[in-house]
Formats: sequence, structure tokens, C-alpha cells
Amino acid sequence: MRLNITSIPGDGIGPEVVTEAKKVLQRVGEVYDHEPVFTDVLMGGCAIDAVGEPLPQETIDAAKAADAVLMGSIGGNTTTSPWYKLPPEKRPEAGLLGIRKALGLFANLRPAYLYPELASACPLRPDIVAGGFDMVIVRELTGGLYFGPRSTEERDGQQVATDTLVYSESEIRRVAIRAFDIARKRRKLVTSVDKANVLDSSRLWRKVVTQVAEEYPDVTLKHQLVDSCAMELVRDPAQFDVVLTENMFGDILSDEASMIAGSLGMLSSASLNETKFGLYEPSGGSAPDIAGQGIANPIATILSAAMMLRYSFDLDQEAEAVEQAVKQVLADGIRTGDILPASGAEGLRRVGTAEMGDAIAARIVGRES
Ligand code: IPM
Ligand code: MG
Repeated sequence: MRLNITSIPGDGIGPEVVTEAKKVLQRVGEVYDHEPVFTDVLMGGCAIDAVGEPLPQETIDAAKAADAVLMGSIGGNTTTSPWYKLPPEKRPEAGLLGIRKALGLFANLRPAYLYPELASACPLRPDIVAGGFDMVIVRELTGGLYFGPRSTEERDGQQVATDTLVYSESEIRRVAIRAFDIARKRRKLVTSVDKANVLDSSRLWRKVVTQVAEEYPDVTLKHQLVDSCAMELVRDPAQFDVVLTENMFGDILSDEASMIAGSLGMLSSASLNETKFGLYEPSGGSAPDIAGQGIANPIATILSAAMMLRYSFDLDQEAEAVEQAVKQVLADGIRTGDILPASGAEGLRRVGTAEMGDAIAARIVGRES
């Protein structure tokens, strides 16, 4: 099968980790007889430098022409990079938000799973994570505070800035349906996270999610306030299966979830619309402080490529082969620096980005083996 993939390496560690995910997809192609074809395009800071804007039309067109998009990361150091002297709509992040909106990618899936081998890299007490945890955060991605009207204006001699949190019933309903569909294939529990004790948008969120739940009598729905959820994530992460939440809460809670899974370098993500099309990127950022050093962890991007195989190409077996290869690499004691335990690293081998990619690619096995 031909896999038509548009790739957006982006900024910082993006190009390094995307190279490794491509390597792994090439290997999957060899072993399972598929032909991945990559078209590289610019977005973010590198696009600003090359053509003066973070999201060139060519990038949107190339993404739309593909079956799926593989992305690294965009952006730079917000205090030192000249990109952040530009007006907000010209900065790297505007490219990412723009492409999410242009492609209608309303459902962002971020799985957070504790690999037993990484338990020592988890900052939580061993007794808290003894049984592991396995959750997926379903984050609404094209609404809420990120896309509501905003302004900064002068009022009574001082600057006043406004952001607006807007949700319509249909925006809530479609992402809730996604979350319940996913829960049905897992442990059948949706925790819907909101701030319904304060926000109107959250009260509507709760109402619509409750309506959707009626269509899924086999799935349990729990509502939880976002502050309480942030606390429960570190008190007892195993209680969560599918966490459904709005854009901003999902941004924050998914970073928290990634940290308890050992490292931001482990958390993959898929951003989906109503079709099979999706954009796949690690949940972490461009990490400009370590860019170009060959030490970034490519696993989140490689696991995002596995999600691409599963969701955009229906290649479940190939996706599992990638996930198994990642597990095997961890079992074999191969680690990038971010997933090395603070102490007790005997028997583990520290590797760089490319070596980690090689190690995972080498462990992709075919159907018969
Ligand atoms: C993420 C990132 C982005 C977001 C930034 C880079 C705009 O933090 O994908 O979580 O806030 O959505
Ligand atoms: Mg984020």
C-alpha cells in the first residue's frame, strides 16, 4: 500500500525526531510491503525565516493532498528568539493553530501509559504507580480559548487584554462522540473534565456530554472539575481511562500526564477530523535548548507514527509492530537521557536520537516471526 504522507519537520528538535519516525516507517514499509512517500513542507519558525509567514498556503495544500501528516514541532525560545518579536499572528504557534483549524482537526488524542521499564523515571512514589496506568486524553482542539475572539486595548489609561472561551453544542458533541467511541474499545470509562462550578462554557459542556453518554449505556461517564483532575492525576493516575476535555484544560493536563509517564519525550498524539485523515505529532514542544545535539527522545514521534498507521491507514498490525518495538527497546535497556532514572542506571545504555531510531527500526518484525 502506498502511504502518502506530508511531513512537517518544523523547528528545534522537530527535524531530528521526524527523521527517526520516517526511518521507522520505511522499515515498516520493507517488512510489511508498503511504500511510504514523504513530501516535506515548511511550518513555524523555519517557514517564517524562509518565506516570511508561519503557515504558507503550500503547506496547507500539501497537507490536504496527503492521507496523513507527520509533524515534529514548531517554535523557539519565547524570550530570546526573534520570532517572538513579531505580531502574534505571525509567530510560529500561529502556524500550528492555523493548520489545526484549516484541516478541521477537532479531536486530539494523547495516550499516557506507564511502561513498567520506565517506572523509575516516573516522579511519583513507587506505591502510587505500582499497578501502572493507561489513559488517553481526548482534547478538543479547534475551539475554546485558543480560537475565541481576543483583543488587547487601551481602556482608562491602561491596557486591557481579553480572551474568550466559546463552545457550541455541535463542537462539544462531536469530540464527546469520539471519546465515547474510544472508551468503548477500552475500559469503558469517560471522565469529562470541566469547570462547571464557574464557567458557562463548562456547564454547556457537561450538559452536552451527558446527552451523548445516553447513547452509550455500556460506557460509564464521570464528571470532574479540572482542578480536582489535576490533583487526582498525581494522587491515583490508574483511575483514568478516557479523559475528555476542552482545549486549554487538555493542553495543561496532557503535559502533566506525560510527566508522570516518565517524560514528555514519550507522549504521542493524533489530531483527527471526521475522516481518516490525521496530523500526528509528539505532544512535547521544540525543546530549543537541546536542538541540534542529537540527544532528543524520538519515541513520542515514533509512537505518533504508529497512531498514523492505525487511524489513517487502518494498519493495526503494523502499528502494533512499532509499539512492540518500542517496548522491546525499553526492555533491552536502551534509553535517551530524558528517560534515564536519576539513580540506578546500571545495565542501561544511554543513546542519542539516531541510535534510538535505529534500535526501534531494527526491532520491527513481520507477521510470521
Ligand atoms: C501543544 C502545544 C501547543 C498548544 C502550542 C505549541 C501552541 O503546547 O500541542 O500542546 O498549546 O496546543
Ligand atoms: Mg501543550
